[in-house]
This record gives sequence, structure tokens and C-alpha cells, in this order.
Amino acid sequence: MWHNNEPVDKRRRFVDAPGFASQMIPTATSLSNGLRKRCFSDSGDHDDRPPKSRRTSPINYITDGEDPPIRKCLPMSFACGVAETIDFKMKLSHGALLTILNFVFSRSLSFAFTISHTGVHRSSRNNCSSLQMATSGPLSCRAIGIGSATPRTVITNVDLEKVVETSDEWISSRTGISQRRVLTHPLVTSEDEDKESLTTLSVTAAQKAVEMSGINPEDIDLVICATSSPDDLFGDATTVAASLGCTNAFAFDLTAACSGFLFGLVTAGQFMDRKNSGVKNALVVGADALSRWVDWGDRNSCILFGDGAGAMILQGTADSDIGKEGVGLLGYSAHSNGMGHEDLKCGFKGESNHVSTPGDGVDLSKGSYNYISMNGSNVYKFATREVPKVLQEALDAADIKADDIDWLLLHQANIRIMEAVAKRLGVPMEKVITNLSDYGNTSAASIPIALDEAVRAGKVKKGDVIACAGFGAGLSWGSAIIRWG
Ligand code: UT7
Repeated sequence: MWHNNEPVDKRRRFVDAPGFASQMIPTATSLSNGLRKRCFSDSGDHDDRPPKSRRTSPINYITDGEDPPIRKCLPMSFACGVAETIDFKMKLSHGALLTILNFVFSRSLSFAFTISHTGVHRSSRNNCSSLQMATSGPLSCRAIGIGSATPRTVITNVDLEKVVETSDEWISSRTGISQRRVLTHPLVTSEDEDKESLTTLSVTAAQKAVEMSGINPEDIDLVICATSSPDDLFGDATTVAASLGCTNAFAFDLTAACSGFLFGLVTAGQFMDRKNSGVKNALVVGADALSRWVDWGDRNSCILFGDGAGAMILQGTADSDIGKEGVGLLGYSAHSNGMGHEDLKCGFKGESNHVSTPGDGVDLSKGSYNYISMNGSNVYKFATREVPKVLQEALDAADIKADDIDWLLLHQANIRIMEAVAKRLGVPMEKVITNLSDYGNTSAASIPIALDEAVRAGKVKKGDVIACAGFGAGLSWGSAIIRWG
């Protein structure tokens, strides 16, 4: 029987790693599940209990009490981990790649592999509740700056009444959204300085965060851009870093849809927690322009999304500072489940592209993507079921009680989801930070935009504990407990 200092529950036969994935919407989780399906099949029940919190979580081996079938399954499990790792979408130089690999194979994201020979079981396709996660207590870093930027152009609910069969009343009451901001086509503005893109928004947000932090861009060692909709298919992080003057940073994109910012935060925190990583200051940007991928004839989804960018500067701290000042990233938890991938996706479409190679030639694809497709009801149920649990896991890891949090900051998707989660945790709505009404769902940007506004409005103060949670396509979901300041 192998296990990782945890009671082995015969019903818990598998351990999954969160899937950070490639654009448009995460594919790593579906890929890893596909691999697992080939390797495993299981008929056990699930254990919904959150696992014991742990400082870091290295590879977990949980079996059904018999000898682990590791020889048989580890290669495929390893492949799952590698697939997720590769799909991490890092557009890197060779040197940076080595750093990332070092990071991945260290205690960083605790890639936990399924090794049960009888394999993955889901009682229903969307039952994510028993999937395992990466979770941890404090990481030696703290937030020292925050910023955000949103596009000029506003589309109100009333405007949308002329686009699809809907009403301001329906949208407001069912979602809490009144308006959203969107990037217009680059050709509509003639003046260069007026041109808005996802990259310009990211740079503006990052500049504000750098300004608040008091550090210089040259002092930043790592730039992570969490986005599913970059201006450049190869990623925006290097452009953002260059525009900002981060001449000493290595930069890469990370795609985990609406969980992207939280996953980026945790990833940066892992670098900083490793004292030999050389990362002292990190910039994490969450930015998305899903208006580019929304079907503006689909009233189920077009009412929800808006564009924007938010950014946070993290600074490494000495381990002793965590206990003394109590500030920083106090705990986190991250999950994914590709079995729910169909519920929210934006898949590759491609147009026929015949290339006349010798003989009959070859039919290739010219790149393009379908519109976002979403089963709103399934995503709603997934969020209200999983988000309270993932928050509780991070609270446990941070050794903090729900009563002790000052603010609850959820991915801004639907006010009813926020109400349901707050109620489940026993947090009053006065403690819920929301700006959903003004911006709609800005995907990876929603948490840092809302936090930026709350900090600048003087609502969030130094020492406040903020419980954050993101969720979305993949499916992916995660949480982090931050003490501000
Ligand atoms: O980052 C994660 C991204 N996604 C989400 O977070 C989505 C989570 N899900 C939701 O927020 C909600 O499910 C929606 C806002 C998408 C939908 O709200 P709902 O209360 O679940 O509505 P529903 O899908 O059950 O639809 C109820 C009715 C349907 O009509 P019938 O079949 O009852 O006649 C819909 O056709 O409302 C209709 N409907 C609309 N009516 C007016 C759906 N969209 C609209 C609309 N305007 N825009």
C-alpha cells in the first residue's frame, strides 16, 4: 500500500493533476483524461471530502490496498503529467524551458498521477467532486502592486436588446451584469496611440501595478500572462515584458481560461518559494478578449463576456516573514477535470488549405476557431458545487476559518454563483467583492480587475484576508487565500 501520509481510502483510487492548457480554451485536461481513460477504468465510489492540507504535495500514490500496479501504469501516468506540462503553453527560449522543467519536476505543482490499474471513474460526466488537486499552505511571496485596464467601448444590456432576443431585466436579474467593455477591431481607430489591443491593456494594467509596487521593471524576474485569447498565438507575455521594460525577466503565457490568473499566481508563487529559482519579483497578468470568440447571435453566451486585463506584482519574502507579518499567499488549491471539457470550449475549426506537394498534394488546415460553446446550466452547477469546496481546501491549507476572511473575491461570472458560494461558506454578501455589473465576465482578468478596484477604492486594506476562487473552461477551478499588503 503506497500513500503520501494520508489515510488511504479504498474508494479514492485516483489522483489528478490540474491541467494548465493550451488555447483557445484548455485542452490539457481533456488530453490527460483521454490518456487516463486508455490506461484505467474504475468502478469505485468517490470520496468528496477535501484532503488534508499540506505544505507541499509531491506525487501522491493512492491505491486500493494491493501492490501498486506502478510498472504497468506509471508510464501512461507519466505521459499524462508530461502532456499537461507540455500543454502548459509556455512560449519560451531554451533556457527558460529548462527552468520550467526544473520547476515542474520539483515540488512545485505537485503533479499527482493516477496509478490505479482499474482507473478513472466518474459517476456522471460532470461529477468533478472527487478529483484530486495540487494544494499547499503558505508560499513565500506577497502581493505588492495591483493594476487593471479595460477597453473604452461599452455595450450595455439595452444595446444587446437590439442584437439578440433578450432584455436588460433578464440579463440583470439572471446574471447581475449591466454592461461590458469590449475591444473593437484594430482598424476602426486611425491614430496609433488610440489603438487598443489585449497587449496594450495588459501593459497598462502592468504599469499601474509596477507603479504601486515601487519597484522598477528591470527588477522583475518573471512575467506570466494568463490568457486564452492572446493577440499572438505564440503568446503575449514576451511583448508585454518588452513594452514594460522588463529587460531581466523571462516570460511565458499560461492558459487556464477563467482560472488562469489564480493558476498564474500559484505558479509564480512556486518559483518564489524556491529560494534557488532566482525569482525575486514576478508580474502576473490575467487578460482576455473573449468578445473576439463569442457568437454575437447566441443570447446564452454573448450577454456574459467582456474584455480586460489585470496585473499583480508579487515579491518573494523570507519564510520567517510569513509568520511574522502574516502577509502573502497563505494557501491555495487547484483542480481540473477534462471530463467536463464539452461544457465550455472554443475548439479549433480550420479552413481547408490545399498544398500542392508532389502527387495529389495534401489538405491542411488554415487556422481558425469555432465560437465559444457553453452549456450554461452545467457550468453553473459545476461552479456552485465545486467553488465552496475548493475555497475550503485553501482555507484549511492556510489554517484560516471562513469566519476570519475579510473579503470573498470570486471569478466574476454570475452574481447568483457568488451568492450561492457565499451562502455555502457562511460569508455575508457585504464581504463579497464584485464589479460584475460594469464589466461582465472578463475571464482570466476578472479577479485582478475587481481586486484592483477594491484596493484603490480603499475597501481592501493592508492585512485584510481575501479568499479568491476562479473557475471555468477545462474544466478548471482553483482558490488562493491572500493577506493583502
Ligand atoms: O467563466 C465561466 C463562464 N460561464 C459561466 O459562468 C456560466 C454559468 N451559467 C450561467 O451564468 C447561467 O446558466 C446563464 C446566465 C448562462 C443562464 O441563466 P439560467 O438562469 O441558467 O437560464 P437558462 O439557461 O436555464 O434559461 C432559462 C430561459 C430559457 O428559456 P426557456 O427554455 O425556459 O423558454 C432560455 O432560452 O431563459 C432563456 N434565455 C434567455 N432569455 C432572455 C437564455 N438566455 C437568455 C437571454 N435573454 N439572454
